Amino acid sequence: MRDFYLGGSISEVFEMLPEYRVKKVKLGTREIGLVRIGERIYGFSSFCPHRGASLIQGSINSQGEIICPLHQYRFELKTGQAKAGDCADLQTYPCELSEIGLIITLP
Ligand code: FES
Repeated sequence: MRDFYLGGSISEVFEMLPEYRVKKVKLGTREIGLVRIGERIYGFSSFCPHRGASLIQGSINSQGEIICPLHQYRFELKTGQAKAGDCADLQTYPCELSEIGLIITLP
């Protein structure tokens, strides 16, 4: 497990992550997606577990799911669970918002 830090404060993190927009971030050798909904931030693999499309172009619905742009499968951002379509769950990464910014934990 390895922690990565983004931003230097809560307000910097909020500025970097407008709500309901997918942001691509490179951490070490891995590329992940981040989405903020209110004060919660979700980290996930940027590649769809179905056929590997980029989820960076995905959209977020009002149920807190990301929708893949290629075949419209949906994944719950909180757990990664596939909600529509028959494929593996989306890999998610724990994110913690703190006074020193965002802490993202990768395996
Ligand atoms: S590649 Fe994402 S739903 Fe098919």
